[in-house]
Amino acid sequence: MAHVPYRSDLDIAMSEVSNGEVTGSDWRRGLPLLRGTQVTLRELRRSDAASLCALLTTEEVARFISPPPSAVHGFERFIDWTRRQRIAGSYACYAVTLRGVDTAVGIIQVRALEPGFGIAEWGFVLGASFWGTGVFQESARLVLDFAFDTLRTERLEARAAVANGRGNGALRKLGAVRECGLRKSFHHDGEFVDQALYAILANDRRAAASAIAPAPRLH
Ligand SMILES: CC(C)(COP(=O)(O)OP(=O)(O)OC[C@H]1O[C@@H](n2cnc3c(N)ncnc32)[C@H](O)[C@@H]1OP(=O)(O)O)[C@@H](O)C(=O)NCCC(=O)NCCS
Repeated sequence: MAHVPYRSDLDIAMSEVSNGEVTGSDWRRGLPLLRGTQVTLRELRRSDAASLCALLTTEEVARFISPPPSAVHGFERFIDWTRRQRIAGSYACYAVTLRGVDTAVGIIQVRALEPGFGIAEWGFVLGASFWGTGVFQESARLVLDFAFDTLRTERLEARAAVANGRGNGALRKLGAVRECGLRKSFHHDGEFVDQALYAILANDRRAAASAIAPAPRLH
């Protein structure tokens, strides 16, 4: 389930190491830029708070996710928290921007479910005007490459409310396998709702990649 997971009780006091653009295994110092044809994904910045607050707090966007902060200040606190969690090595949160336009239109986050990111969970949310445009699919594939190639994730889970047609549809398009239902596993808007548990395995990706690799030439 995508949510904006700042919890003060889980917060840790750490100082920033670096804001510079870095790559690969340096991701704890700063997330590497992920570039697609339509999108650029980058580290969140405090200045993203206003656009995220405007885009992610509408009723249709927040309908199936944990309540986002209700004000810009809450998003700023969340963004500060994402940076501390990244430095701690337990979490990575990307701002989705359209290529050539620096405004954050959504976020995609990956959090470790065990130390080292072998098993991780991801979540995502975009402003509604970007749904169905391909922005999510391209952004998600960039984050999948980051998770499996850089974080070395073996199993990436996602939870989607059963009633969330777009969330379930988007996951299926990415090749996520629906493994089971989780009854009354999400408390939302005063009621407990059912979710579906999805997973993508590194093994599945390796198998898919070798299936499409050209056969070796025999002489
Ligand atoms: C989840 C989210 C990022 C997906 O982005 P998106 O651009 O809407 O996703 P896509 O268009 O790539 O894929 C959605 C698919 O679900 C399909 N879909 C839409 N409504 C559906 C429904 N009620 N039932 C089944 N499928 C549905 C769409 O048709 C689309 O498939 P298609 O392209 O083959 O037609 C975006 O919808 C969002 O931010 N939602 C609010 C936050 C949220 O729910 N996050 C949690 C997700 S688990």
